[in-house]
Amino acid sequence: MEDAVTEAVRQQYEAYSYPPPIDDAGEFLKRWGPLTCDPRFAGVQLWPEGRPRQDLRILCAGCGSSQAALIALNNPDCSVVGIDLSEASLAHSNRHRERHRLTNLELRQMSLLDVGAMNRAFDLIICTGVLHHLPDPDAGLKALADVLDPSGSMAIMLYGKAGRAGVYLVQDILRRLGAGPDAKGLGIARELLKFVPSYHYLISPTGKLPNDLADDAGIVDMLLHPQDRAYAVPEIMQFIETAGLVFFGWSDNALYCADRYFGGAMLERVLALPAAEQWAVVDNLTLINSRHDFFVRKPESARFLTRFDTDDYLSYVPLIRAGTRLGGDANALILTRPSPHGDVVTPISRSEALLLEQADGNRSISEILSHAMFTPMAPEQRTKFAGAVCERMWRSGHVLFGRSGS
Ligand SMILES: C[S@@+](CC[C@H](N)C(=O)[O-])C[C@H]1O[C@@H](n2cnc3c(N)ncnc32)[C@H](O)[C@@H]1O
Repeated sequence: MEDAVTEAVRQQYEAYSYPPPIDDAGEFLKRWGPLTCDPRFAGVQLWPEGRPRQDLRILCAGCGSSQAALIALNNPDCSVVGIDLSEASLAHSNRHRERHRLTNLELRQMSLLDVGAMNRAFDLIICTGVLHHLPDPDAGLKALADVLDPSGSMAIMLYGKAGRAGVYLVQDILRRLGAGPDAKGLGIARELLKFVPSYHYLISPTGKLPNDLADDAGIVDMLLHPQDRAYAVPEIMQFIETAGLVFFGWSDNALYCADRYFGGAMLERVLALPAAEQWAVVDNLTLINSRHDFFVRKPESARFLTRFDTDDYLSYVPLIRAGTRLGGDANALILTRPSPHGDVVTPISRSEALLLEQADGNRSISEILSHAMFTPMAPEQRTKFAGAVCERMWRSGHVLFGRSGS
């Protein structure tokens, strides 16, 4: 028997499946490409050392209406288990399963708190937009950690506190008006939205309401939810530590990159802080993160964390992230990459560009540095130069780092 909060959450997702069901999983993948938590997209971020096995055992915890099906369709070599409280959402997923004959997809109606009862281990656990709806998110992450293989990786999405400030103000108004997650509440919410002023925190800097408010399921999920909480960066770090896990990187570092938002002495001041403090500062300044997408692993895998405070990075294999382009002119080169909050634009020098041109996804940094164009530099200077470039490119999210032989 579930507690009253979980039962209210279940009922909401029975009535309003989320995300709003898609028609065809194949068409969706053709149009939008893989989800950012898909191992075919995020592989090197999940396992810089190389994936632990080809036939990954994947758990989509709180899979909603389509996520598990999209992952199973795009990863036919892998087995995918999708679990969710909502029978209605699982029925949508099952429709995709049948249409695309996804024999690698297993769907179960259950709480992720009970996942241990399956007596199975997973190489990849995807849990996006779910843990912040649990009455006890710590218990949820702990339950998932218990079924994560020691070499496994988890992709998590939690709501962002700074970026959702406006959401909580509007939720508060709707609660006072007695609006619940039902047709009557939806009517009240739609009416209220007509009165939200253009300067309200709910409105994005581009002057638009969040895309999610375009349909009933999105309005209920964002504004009428019976249980949701959001996280600031330090709270995420604490959440992960409490579960005995290790933070393994943001899905896109650019959303937390001090270099994009500061300059001069202030940038130096911020960059002098530990990384998690830098991210907290940027998050509080920009307010762009209404969601935090990140990866976590077990302490056994912490040795594969990307870091630049020892010479280990010389064995890293730099990989330019899809969508990153070199532009500008000979006097002012820039790297650009599209992002939901405006292009990520990073000025780079000619010698930095030459180094990045050698990044083919196979050669390690030390192999790249042995190229004739870098040998005139003194060895120590060369190493220092490469470390500084790679760290800056890592902060901007333009470059990801695998390991030699992965
Ligand atoms: C916002 S939706 C996210 C769906 C999907 N993960 C995605 O990102 O598209 C949240 C889903 O989590 C499910 N859920 C909430 N609490 C859960 C729990 N304790 N165990 C399993 N599923 C849960 C809900 O039923 C709902 O389908």
